Amino acid sequence: MELYDLIISRHSERKYLRETVSKEDIQKIVEAGLSAPSGMNTQPWHFTVIQNKETQKEIVETCRANFLKSGEDWRVNWAKTENFNPFYGADVIIVISNKSQVNKSKEDCPYAIQNMTIMAEGLGLSSCIIKDICWGIDKSNQEKYGIPSDYECYMSLVIGKSVQKNTKKKTFDYSKVNYID
Ligand SMILES: Cc1cc2nc3c(=O)[nH]c(=O)nc-3n(C[C@H](O)[C@H](O)[C@H](O)COP(=O)(O)O)c2cc1C
Repeated sequence: MELYDLIISRHSERKYLRETVSKEDIQKIVEAGLSAPSGMNTQPWHFTVIQNKETQKEIVETCRANFLKSGEDWRVNWAKTENFNPFYGADVIIVISNKSQVNKSKEDCPYAIQNMTIMAEGLGLSSCIIKDICWGIDKSNQEKYGIPSDYECYMSLVIGKSVQKNTKKKTFDYSKVNYID
């Protein structure tokens, strides 16, 4: 697929098949993240690739427990559902952590995430960026998941084969653009 079409047709997907993403594809996605630009080339990110289903379940249950305590109605109601899974059952969860001491590290991480998103799309996979990971991993338990202590959980990207690709055509809001010719 042309790069233009690939980027324009991408959608966040929230229904995944129980199909395994190959290690080769995961490596390409990780390398896409690692090759992202960053201010002064500080590369202030850390990626934790979680494909292990027990570990994923444990994180889902931590999210559930914290959602229940959140005081936000929609989170509480969602957490009470039997099939609660803020990661939508995707085969791979990549946790992106930012290096706390690096000034503006949170500005750099999104470039890595977007690189990984586009690579996943190019490999015929689907993805969704998920902030809710921060309800499952924080300073209190990040060591267990191999996140170095000088980093903090920032975002996650879930990747897998989606049940169906959303083919809805995007509309562009040109009011957000101006040109100076
Ligand atoms: C910073 C960020 C955080 C997001 N967090 C979540 C999330 O926690 N759960 C979720 O289902 N989608 C999440 N998304 C996906 C957005 O809802 C999605 O990108 C947006 O609705 C646009 O849809 P599209 O990606 O299909 O174009 C997040 C996206 C971004 C960029």
